[in-house]
Amino acid sequence: MTPSRPHQPKYLQEDDISQKCRNLLPSLPCEKRWITSLYQYQGFWYPPNVLKGILACQDHFRAQDTDVLLITAPKSGTTWLKAILFCLLNRAEFSGSMQHHPLLTQNPHDLVPFLEIQPFFGQEISNLTSFASPRLFATHLPYPLLPASVKDSGCKMVYLCRNPKDTCVSLWRFANKMRSKATSEMPLGECVDAFCRGAHPAGPYWDHVQGCYKASSEMPERVLFLRYEDMKEDPHVHVKRLPDFLGCPLGKQELMDGTVDGILRMCSFDSLSALEVNKSGKLSTGLETEWFFRKGEVGDWLNYMTIEMGEKIDRVMQEKMHGSGLTL
Ligand code: A3P
Repeated sequence: MTPSRPHQPKYLQEDDISQKCRNLLPSLPCEKRWITSLYQYQGFWYPPNVLKGILACQDHFRAQDTDVLLITAPKSGTTWLKAILFCLLNRAEFSGSMQHHPLLTQNPHDLVPFLEIQPFFGQEISNLTSFASPRLFATHLPYPLLPASVKDSGCKMVYLCRNPKDTCVSLWRFANKMRSKATSEMPLGECVDAFCRGAHPAGPYWDHVQGCYKASSEMPERVLFLRYEDMKEDPHVHVKRLPDFLGCPLGKQELMDGTVDGILRMCSFDSLSALEVNKSGKLSTGLETEWFFRKGEVGDWLNYMTIEMGEKIDRVMQEKMHGSGLTL
């Protein structure tokens, strides 16, 4: 293991891991190019402290039929969809008092916990049974690694994917923000290389996406597959699919009074990124909230990558996703 650095957010520090995780690490392939070592567990790469949370949630998380789980690879629009799902599921409670809406003072990541990070992070596992139903969680776990109870229950899963080149650039910018000023930045070429080997947080990207794509084809009533680019192009159409899928359809009044428009306005990049909590706050995990709001644009990779880098990602994605019926 690499020693923890004092500036690292708590959840990336490597000295607070469970015995089970500590015993496992020496047997796992390790990648050292990122800010923290990544270990390949069941085919996917994670930092040790997240791996500790994964092991704990695989052992202890008990899904309920009414749960909603947002599944994403890092940097594919999790923050946006966390906010939207939170608003949709809690709309009855806050419809009359938008000025007191929790999103105005709390970052979406503090309102919607990552299963493998927040509840299973500390030595004490949070009592998730006390959460009001429907419970809303997120995860960067791919479908094959989800706790068995998620697959066995009737809970609903929403997957959001994004163009891999934009995801890679977003990941690169984010990883460099996490580095201290004293540590040199990771060159983009190195990030592209790691991305194309699948050796990046929660990678390989192609396997992450395909797991849920397959599950959504086989169980469309349980897994909804969305694309960031589609949501950017026509957010109304795609967000309107969510209440039906989640079993909380919009009522006649809500259809008329522009409930979805209101939610989209509140969750838009411009609105969320302008809030004080998202300009200068810190998450409970220690990350700075502003890091989650960079540009939120489709095709931004062209401003950073060379054509060769883009082609390299395209080639590997085509090869790895061949026959899946999915193109990204
Ligand atoms: P960029 O780095 O391309 O700007 P995640 O939430 O999974 O960490 O993904 C972060 C990406 O989503 C970042 O992309 C970020 O700017 C973008 N994002 C954050 N909030 C958004 C919003 N409300 N609408 C659209 N994109 C958003």
